[in-house]
Amino acid sequence: MLLGVNIDHVATLRNARGGEEPDPVLAAEICEKNGAASITTHLREDRRHIKDIDVKTLRKTLRTRLNLEMAVTDEMQKIALSIKPHSVCLVPEKREEVTTEGGLDVARQIIRITNFVSPLINEGILVSLFIDPTEEQVRAAAQTGVQFVELHTGQYSLAYGTPDEEEEFMKLNEASRLAHALGMQVNAGHGLNYQNVHRMRQIEDLNELNIGHSIISRAVFVGLDKAVKEMNDLIK
Ligand code: PXP
Repeated sequence: MLLGVNIDHVATLRNARGGEEPDPVLAAEICEKNGAASITTHLREDRRHIKDIDVKTLRKTLRTRLNLEMAVTDEMQKIALSIKPHSVCLVPEKREEVTTEGGLDVARQIIRITNFVSPLINEGILVSLFIDPTEEQVRAAAQTGVQFVELHTGQYSLAYGTPDEEEEFMKLNEASRLAHALGMQVNAGHGLNYQNVHRMRQIEDLNELNIGHSIISRAVFVGLDKAVKEMNDLIK
């Protein structure tokens, strides 16, 4: 299983002082050197962490893959078509949220999503939909023509160590199996950390995990190189 590192919170820290440190581009380089198979950034409508220039620079400097997380808006579609990241992951986005809450409701907007992803796919960009691990959402995602889904692990992460853990884990396991059977590749992420990540290894068809907050938080104490290596060791 591959590790994708989300570097948004390096930019959160940088923006707290309005200067240039710490530099998310340098952070991405360190992640790559220490085993990250891809780098994820979420360009939000309010640009609260990652900015347009970061995405443009990363597109040029990354040696692995740039995965651009974005909302389903005309503005973001235009940016993706111009920057041409290796992949995009479509997420729901609300201005007031602290982080992405819940998956994209693909089932209620299959036609809209199908029309939105079509020019991206035609340009050779791989498209992933960030969805809750339910049969309804997986089947809807398959209808849009995307090559990937990213299963939302937030509920599993919250339930880890509680009586609900098994149920949440099984939802991920079944959604992964179904998505794979329907011809899509399966990634997962949100809320995963050094304690709860190990069970992701039990899910057969998982391709890549996208992990941000826990790695950047650990990096404060042990350094980004070690934080990435430790996570990679846990998921191998
Ligand atoms: N995947 C998606 C689609 C996300 O929106 C996020 C958060 O930006 C992550 C993965 C990473 O989540 P975390 O920061 O909790 O590891």
